[in-house]
Amino acid sequence: MTQDVTDRRDRPLRDLRISLTDRCNFRCSYCMPKALFGADHAFLPRHQLLSFEEIARLAGVFASLGVRKLRLTGGEPLLRRDLETLIGLLRDIDGIDDISLTTNASLLTRDKARALRAAGLDRLTVSLDGIDDATFRAMNDVGFPVAKVLAGIDHAEAAGLGPIKINMVVQKGVNDGDILPMAGHFRGTAHIVRFIEYMDVGNSNGWRLDQVIPSRDVVDRINARWPIEPLAPNYRGEVAERYRYRDGAGEVGLISSVTQPFCGTCQRARLSAEGQLFTCLFASHGHDLRERLRRGDSDAALHEALTTVWSQRDDRYSELRTAVEQPIDSRRIEMSYIGG
Ligand code: GTP
Ligand code: 5AD
Ligand code: SF4
Ligand code: SF4
Repeated sequence: MTQDVTDRRDRPLRDLRISLTDRCNFRCSYCMPKALFGADHAFLPRHQLLSFEEIARLAGVFASLGVRKLRLTGGEPLLRRDLETLIGLLRDIDGIDDISLTTNASLLTRDKARALRAAGLDRLTVSLDGIDDATFRAMNDVGFPVAKVLAGIDHAEAAGLGPIKINMVVQKGVNDGDILPMAGHFRGTAHIVRFIEYMDVGNSNGWRLDQVIPSRDVVDRINARWPIEPLAPNYRGEVAERYRYRDGAGEVGLISSVTQPFCGTCQRARLSAEGQLFTCLFASHGHDLRERLRRGDSDAALHEALTTVWSQRDDRYSELRTAVEQPIDSRRIEMSYIGG
């Protein structure tokens, strides 16, 4: 039985983002800088990760509270072996009508893309922070070539996972020179590049407001080269603002969580790889669901616990950050731990 729940700001719970691992094979400097995520970094040991069965069970309880969309993230989710097995379990849950995956696509072979699609994956989003090979290699900081990511995108499209969203986090002076080349590369395809304002997530990236390029500037730059016009959102609460090229060459998106926060319609919960539930990307603490699972809580007990957490939720970090115009100083979860 479905019993929808709303929080203290009347926001329903519709999306669940599930991190499958805190590990990644890239070392993007804004996310997992080598200095902090080196050989001696303590990643979560295997037994602390939720099993696929545990994840699917929790997802089922979330669906009974109103969740309709699932997004699998990381770290890098393709590092979890047999990911397609999990997708098959999630596909069978009543009420879930959209399953997507956010990946850096470095491990996306033709066979993997086919297996994910066959198991029931609906969509794929690829994180790609540069289109120039040298820029991209420097961004991922492990020298990974851009051509291999582009091949992964092609495999995903051929497997029926397109159109694909391409997420580019823009940092002033680091990769903003790639804005137009990135737009140009995917213009004329069905894929949608989304330019993301660099956010102050986590504690390790030394974020500063002057490293953010406001979406407004990105729109102006693209518009000056290839005229674009706004499009209506696909659904209420869509994070990206949509634009289309006036000449019909496709669509781009802008994600402006710094300059135009979208907390008012935020219906996302986040589950870490070890089963901590966070009700905001910028939360400083979570709720331990693994403990409840492993001590034998019933579905009804889990349902009640989740209802209590969500109905007390009051998060709106990005709005508050804008209001005070400086990062609020507190210990926060890392993006590599909880996904985007
Ligand atoms: P669709 O279902 O395809 O519309 O996905 P989406 O755009 O909601 O999700 P995606 O995972 O592609 O999000 C892209 C980026 O938007 C993330 O990497 C974050 O940078 C940002 N983002 C997504 N959700 C949130 C959120 O709840 N809060 C904030 N502050 N940023 C978010
Ligand atoms: N600001 C904005 N987006 C970020 N991501 C990771 N760190 C940040 C940040 N500081 C994005 C990645 C990827 C998703 C998992 O989150 O680029 O698209
Ligand atoms: Fe890995 Fe994505 Fe973080 Fe880069 S941004 S280190 S690809 S999880
Ligand atoms: Fe949602 Fe928190 Fe992001 Fe606001 S800052 S949109 S409440 S996750």
